[in-house]
Amino acid sequence: MAWIRKGQEDLVQAANNSPNGNGNGRPDESIPDVLPAEAPAETAKSNGTATAVAEPAPEEVAEKSGDDDWFLALKRDLHQQVISAINLGAVGNMREEELRLEVRRQAETLCQRRADLLSLAEREQLVNEVLDETFGLGPLEPLMRDPEISDILINGPKTVYIEKKGRLEKSSVAFHDEQHVLQVVQRIVAQMGRRVDETCPMVDARLPDGSRLNAIIKPLALDGPLVSIRRFGARPLQIDDLIENHSITKEMLQFLSACVEGRTNVLISGGTGSGKTTLLNALSSYIPPEERVATIEDAAELQLQQPHVVRMETRPENVEGEGEVSTRDLVRNALRMRPDRIIVGECRGSEALDMLQAMNTGHDGSLTTIHANTPRDALSRLEMMVGMAGFDLPIWVIRKQVASAINIVVQVARLMGGVRKIVKISEITGMEGDVLSMHDIFEYKQTGLDENRVAQGYFSATGIRPTCLNKLAASGVPVPVELFERRMLST
Ligand SMILES: Nc1ncnc2c1ncn2[C@@H]1O[C@H](COP(=O)(O)OP(=O)(O)O)[C@@H](O)[C@H]1O
Ligand SMILES: [Mg+2]
Repeated sequence: MAWIRKGQEDLVQAANNSPNGNGNGRPDESIPDVLPAEAPAETAKSNGTATAVAEPAPEEVAEKSGDDDWFLALKRDLHQQVISAINLGAVGNMREEELRLEVRRQAETLCQRRADLLSLAEREQLVNEVLDETFGLGPLEPLMRDPEISDILINGPKTVYIEKKGRLEKSSVAFHDEQHVLQVVQRIVAQMGRRVDETCPMVDARLPDGSRLNAIIKPLALDGPLVSIRRFGARPLQIDDLIENHSITKEMLQFLSACVEGRTNVLISGGTGSGKTTLLNALSSYIPPEERVATIEDAAELQLQQPHVVRMETRPENVEGEGEVSTRDLVRNALRMRPDRIIVGECRGSEALDMLQAMNTGHDGSLTTIHANTPRDALSRLEMMVGMAGFDLPIWVIRKQVASAINIVVQVARLMGGVRKIVKISEITGMEGDVLSMHDIFEYKQTGLDENRVAQGYFSATGIRPTCLNKLAASGVPVPVELFERRMLST
């Protein structure tokens, strides 16, 4: 095993010869042992030098996880050495590209000394990962570069899940340890002027690319940092994509597009990740371009295509607990900005009252989303949120406000296998006594699962003719009544 020690000493030597090395030629105590015991078998296999090493006993053969651990250890070691090999005094004057080049050069030099251990491809991977570690989000970087990944969920240093095309799967990405996860999270949130530590163990932040991050750490998270990143896709799904992947039918879309263009108020309801924001974004394409649209979001996600859009984003309180600007504040402010329509990314609290009032007083055609499992549930939640505004309004008053403000509720759902469907389009028709009356116009019925456990079913028109057709016709967007004839709809 002497040749392994030799390789390691070479690395240590390289670090010591650098401008920041300790210069005494002895291994620096701070540099950890690079190679776990199972390394030789695996490395021998990977660079075809098996003859140089005695055939390993079966139990010595590295398992996949051992291999990963070894690579992780090597990467950490190399990272530390690259850092210490770089002349930190000069870093301040370097531009990022120069610094990147310098780090790459150092990493490559150090790697070359390990030519006996690493194949060329492994070396390239190692150098890239060290660059990611130094400048970016470390192990998350390759995930953030993959446009198909919509969510990244870190449950622990060695358990990272990703969602791709609606399916959740475990990824091969791993951190060294909890501290490493924490470091990456701290780096991200520090860029946003936020922090996460024991006194402030929960944080929301937006990444420079628009992705949203939530992290919760000890003592609130019992087993170490939990991180959830909702990727901000470079190109959100458009109407055509939703038709193509059978999330909605042409008939349903024809109706919804008329509703948006004809200024009915639409509430999109669904669970987390069910596709509310995506649908809101897609439907907004039917807003006529000459209208002035104000958007209000907690974390800007919408990408409206209209020329006249003014965007606002809420602000959480700062470390001193001051400076919060809520959705409600922004809705009220938006009303003074002469908008034709107001879009609230997600309605979660007391802003519901101001929004309903806005919808009832000339800002029809407003759109928002709400977290609920059925259209009826969405309306009761809305009532509850109005209650949060702090006025002691009787329930029938609130209900009446809801009934006259909201015209259409669109229910979206994420079904088994990750498919997203518009499962209901319902219309609110008014009040019957104390009860809000509503009927379903289109729906999706799940009939079962296919062999891959993906939901199967069909869309249908219920046969009910919407009462808003007259209003739509009056707004210049007539919809043929045949669209609503009771039948199954093909996608
Ligand atoms: N109809 C759809 N088909 C396929 N993927 C979708 C669909 N709607 C949304 N998604 C994907 O699901 C994820 C969550 O969507 P999003 O609209 O942000 O959900 P929500 O706002 O309900 O939390 C995103 O990655 C998005 O690209
Ligand atoms: Mg959303």
